[in-house]
Amino acid sequence: MERGFTMLKAIAQRRSVRKFLAEPVDPHEVDELAAAFQAAPCGMHKTEVLRGVIVTDQQLRQEIEQVSNNACYGAPLLFILAVQKDSPFGERDASVAAENVMVQAAGLSLGSVYVMSGAMALNKHPELLKKLGLPTDFQAAVIVPVGKPAEAPAAEDRIQRYQLIRK
Ligand SMILES: Cc1cc2nc3c(=O)[nH]c(=O)nc-3n(C[C@H](O)[C@H](O)[C@H](O)COP(=O)(O)O)c2cc1C
Repeated sequence: MERGFTMLKAIAQRRSVRKFLAEPVDPHEVDELAAAFQAAPCGMHKTEVLRGVIVTDQQLRQEIEQVSNNACYGAPLLFILAVQKDSPFGERDASVAAENVMVQAAGLSLGSVYVMSGAMALNKHPELLKKLGLPTDFQAAVIVPVGKPAEAPAAEDRIQRYQLIRK
């Protein structure tokens, strides 16, 4: 990697967006989100533990919104990170992959948000998981709704947001 190369701009640009335009995400941008997902690290290189499902189909999105009380904010694309139920790595794999997708979305000036509540609601509907193409030993860990932002989240001090110990 080129020295001095920094991802900090895209990382800092990422904010949780919860209002989206209905416009579909450009297919090339969808491919870039998919590539960001594919590049995510995974525990012990067990790549079979994590699966992604990109949902743009309107009917399916509506069904997910219905069972999750609109947890995905009407976004035109849902990037579902699903994991094998008995894997100790699954949830962690899903989280790092979700961050990859969200940072790439920010780099493309797309909005996104990490949605855990929607994933939990979706898991109460095995028939819907099946429709999404997931085997019965998989469950949703995170849903990342993505789309053109219809809001600009308020500025926040993101320099000292967490306590950070340096020794
Ligand atoms: C583990 C986890 C679960 C989250 N679940 C939800 C959720 O269900 N719905 C939602 O709107 N946001 C959810 N968020 C987004 C957080 O609310 C958001 O990241 C946090 O408020 C910080 O704001 P920022 O993302 O703009 O930096 C979740 C984030 C994380 C890391």
